Amino acid sequence: MHLIYSKKELQDLVAMIRRKGQSIGFVPTMGALHQGHTSLIVEALKKHPVVVVSIFVNPTQFNNAQDLEKYPRTLDQDAQFLSDYKDRVVIYAPSTREVYKNTVQSTPYNFEGIEHVMEGEHRPGHFDGVGTVLNLLFRQFMPDEAFFGEKDYQQLLIVKKLVSIEKLAIKITGCPIHRQSDGLAMSSRNKRLTPEQLKVAPFIYASLQMAKKRFSTKSALEIKKMIEQGYAQHEGLELEYFEIANIKNLKPLSRKRNNQKYRAFIAVFSGEIRLIDNIALN
Ligand code: PAF
Repeated sequence: MHLIYSKKELQDLVAMIRRKGQSIGFVPTMGALHQGHTSLIVEALKKHPVVVVSIFVNPTQFNNAQDLEKYPRTLDQDAQFLSDYKDRVVIYAPSTREVYKNTVQSTPYNFEGIEHVMEGEHRPGHFDGVGTVLNLLFRQFMPDEAFFGEKDYQQLLIVKKLVSIEKLAIKITGCPIHRQSDGLAMSSRNKRLTPEQLKVAPFIYASLQMAKKRFSTKSALEIKKMIEQGYAQHEGLELEYFEIANIKNLKPLSRKRNNQKYRAFIAVFSGEIRLIDNIALN
């Protein structure tokens, strides 16, 4: 496994790989790597001889300074975590300057409304920050394909729109959510949960499964009420939002249509740690 820090080193390495006629996969991350990330890397390695894993805590996608400050930064452990991958994985851990040069600022994007609901509504500016950093990283080395987890399903749709807006010839692939055996979706933020918080957090997935079970017989409104009541009675978790939305445009469901697919989306606070999850309903 190579660990590199500068754009120049990355570009030299990529030029060498390209000279061999090999394709390049990309797994962008903010570090604090876990098995959810390895599942993306494994998928990428099935299709590409070399995979670049970026580790960069992107300041422009945080709308909360404390969240940015407390985000786990564990580069040494992350490098150790990926050490088994030998020469096929390159870790790229740039500084803020290497990514943004002198202007740490996001570009405003029009993602056709998808940026304003759910995560976008509760984290203003978040998707401009995600779009900006990915556009910068993509353009630094133009990978063939980039892999994203469906845990951040809204982000996955945003990235698909981004490559179309920016006219980048990069395939965007979504991979299934990786869960612990108790159902909790893997997330770097889980590292901040106390043992007590880890005990209650699996309720998030359990509540999504309850929603899925009711989906064929109940309306979206009835399911939403049931979920809200469930959280009102559940100590230790505070519901921020629960939505059932169309999987293509994320419009909230008002009347079910047979030929449409829906997912349920949730954001919950465990103390000050914000956790998100989602589930396919049909
Ligand atoms: O999902 C993440 O970890 C981040 O949003 C990403 C895609 C690495 C952009 O900073």
